[in-house]
Amino acid sequence: MADTTLMDKLVSLAKRRGFVFQSSEIYGGLGSVWDYGPLGVELKKNVKDRWWRAMVHARDDIEGLDAAILMHPRVWEASGHVAGFTDPLVDCKTCKARFRADKLDDARCPQKPSKKPGEHTACELTEPRLFNLMFKTFMGPVEEQAATIYLRPETAQGIYVNYQNVLNASRQKVPFGIAQIGKAFRNEITPGNFIFRTREFEQMEMQFFVKPGTDMEWFERWREWRMAWHHAIGLNPAKLRWHAHGPGELAHYAKAAYDIEYEFPFGWNEIEGIHNRSDFDLGRHQEYSGKRLDYFDQPNNERFLPYIVETSAGADRVTLTVMADAYREEEVEGETRVVLGFDPKVAPIKVGVFPLMKKDGLPEVADEVYRAVRRRFNAFYDDSGAIGRRYRRMDEAGTPYCVTVDQETLAERTVTVRDRDAMTQERVSIDRLLEYLTPKVTED
Ligand code: GAP
Repeated sequence: MADTTLMDKLVSLAKRRGFVFQSSEIYGGLGSVWDYGPLGVELKKNVKDRWWRAMVHARDDIEGLDAAILMHPRVWEASGHVAGFTDPLVDCKTCKARFRADKLDDARCPQKPSKKPGEHTACELTEPRLFNLMFKTFMGPVEEQAATIYLRPETAQGIYVNYQNVLNASRQKVPFGIAQIGKAFRNEITPGNFIFRTREFEQMEMQFFVKPGTDMEWFERWREWRMAWHHAIGLNPAKLRWHAHGPGELAHYAKAAYDIEYEFPFGWNEIEGIHNRSDFDLGRHQEYSGKRLDYFDQPNNERFLPYIVETSAGADRVTLTVMADAYREEEVEGETRVVLGFDPKVAPIKVGVFPLMKKDGLPEVADEVYRAVRRRFNAFYDDSGAIGRRYRRMDEAGTPYCVTVDQETLAERTVTVRDRDAMTQERVSIDRLLEYLTPKVTED
């Protein structure tokens, strides 16, 4: 059963606290495009940093890349996107709404009372026609067919076309991988569920090039490593599961595919795909570009076209997952406490620093503590309102620790450190504060 109330609460908290805003809100908003506010940009950056660290910095066999969004239009013919990246669409001639023909059961007709499209007597649905999801634009001053280019619908193709450049420049050997984080665009017909399915989003993709015949072994390894990563960023393992693609579900490029799904308030849905893409991609780019893309394995004196195992996650979708997973409400002293219980390592603000009162020299010492803390991690200074209110604001922001400077600080040079989850307080000397906090809020 979809928990729409929880989703509404999350969307409202996201706006109130500055995680996510609707794009161009003062003009009435732009459909399924969202902007990240001060806390959201930090949270998403931490998700991406954790991914980059696990995929690139912590491994010897993966290189990073940042390919351009705009690519040669032939890339999208080779990849199969021009011909096949389509959804079947039906229009209603009466209310002018558009629906995915394969998702009519999940859609609602805009006419009242709420019914499925086609169920009102006035509904007049067209036959399904294929609608390409790529955004088109024109390169140069002439808006003609020959100048048409696309906003990339996935980052993967930028990796395939650069595979030899990276191989030559990095002196890697197969098996090796290339990782990239970047924007992708899809003109989704039925976007929705906040930042779950949007028209502009970011992907965190890694393509691992392997010798044919070893692909299923690598595929299984990558499944294991990727699920472990989702656990490591603090997601509840009980809300994560595998979904294996059956023969009817497999994308045109895939030999085998599994999705990692999360149980959102609106049901189980994909957050990452692990795909065995065989030699489809390099084969097609070799054919369409006319350039040899095979690999020479010197020690074995053999040539082959590498197979590719892909891991493809949405940065926005994982950010939404982190928020949904962290959200909780608790009764504390007769009041509802809303908490985003983020893993401290992804929390947007690591430490809040407060003077207990705005007098007796407490703000000066608090400012000194704040400056010392923020040199190492993202911190927030707050001196307005009752201390309880300040704690609650930090709970909603998901800040794991709050440091308070009080009268005892002046005498003893110690502060209280309040734990967001346990709500317990510990006295720590200012001299030891960074040593105390660092292992709790940063990666090992
Ligand atoms: N290169 C393979 C590929 O793009 P995909 O299953 O279409 O595969 C991979 O997308 C991931 O990208 C998804 O698991 C999801 O996290 C994210 N994603 C795809 N479409 C999205 C959209 N419209 N909005 C937000 N994230 C999206």
